Amino acid sequence: MTAPTPKRFIASRPVGGSYTFGGRQGRMSPTRQRAFEELLPRYAVVLDELRAEVEAARPIIVEIGCGKGDATAAMAPSDDAIVVACEPNGAMLANLAVLLDDGCMGNVRLWLGDAFDLLAALGPAAVAEIRIWFPDPWPKPRHAGKRLVLPLRLALLVDALRIGGVLRLATDDPAYAAEALDAIAAEPRLVGHIVQRPATRPVTRFEARGLRDGRAATDIEARRTS
Ligand SMILES: C[S@@+](CC[C@H](N)C(=O)[O-])C[C@H]1O[C@@H](n2cnc3c(N)ncnc32)[C@H](O)[C@@H]1O
Repeated sequence: MTAPTPKRFIASRPVGGSYTFGGRQGRMSPTRQRAFEELLPRYAVVLDELRAEVEAARPIIVEIGCGKGDATAAMAPSDDAIVVACEPNGAMLANLAVLLDDGCMGNVRLWLGDAFDLLAALGPAAVAEIRIWFPDPWPKPRHAGKRLVLPLRLALLVDALRIGGVLRLATDDPAYAAEALDAIAAEPRLVGHIVQRPATRPVTRFEARGLRDGRAATDIEARRTS
């Protein structure tokens, strides 16, 4: 018997008329399907609970596009915060649910869907840190509107950050890094620049692929100042 396909998430509002992710849901092996059905609900965001944590001034880190979640799971034990890993691909998020369960990690919550929907649901100035490790580069001009760090989307990310909050971005695409730095420089509420790789960030799956092809990562950090 073939495993049923996971429910597709419903994204409520494509920012700027487009989504920042592709449509593939990933391979759903029977093991992943079981993790999707049994483990993912255990770690899924409960919005009222997350809003209560925001009210209680607990730091919230939002990771946009965690993929299979290896970096999320590796960093979570040293994160003194609630980490919300966002990913629209159900098979990948199921993989992270397994890692969390194996590692008994209690500070990570999973958001199956578009991170912008989560940020909108949390409201302004709710988040201490936003992480974007290796966003899809969308190199073709006809896909340029899907890039994550465009001025329109960057403004929404800054809205979500509390004053003093930090946006961290890593990319192995020099054009993407340059475009992001330009967008950060043009955003009056942010001060940002290239930084050394954060000591706690492991080599992610996507980064490893780039390194094999000779592409090194650039890390960028931007702080909300007003
Ligand atoms: C190139 S992959 C990188 C995955 C992982 N961070 C890594 O470094 O291996 C980018 C991921 O971002 C996800 N993504 C893109 N836009 C997103 C959004 N708006 N909300 C949540 N995830 C998103 C995609 O589905 C994809 O899995």
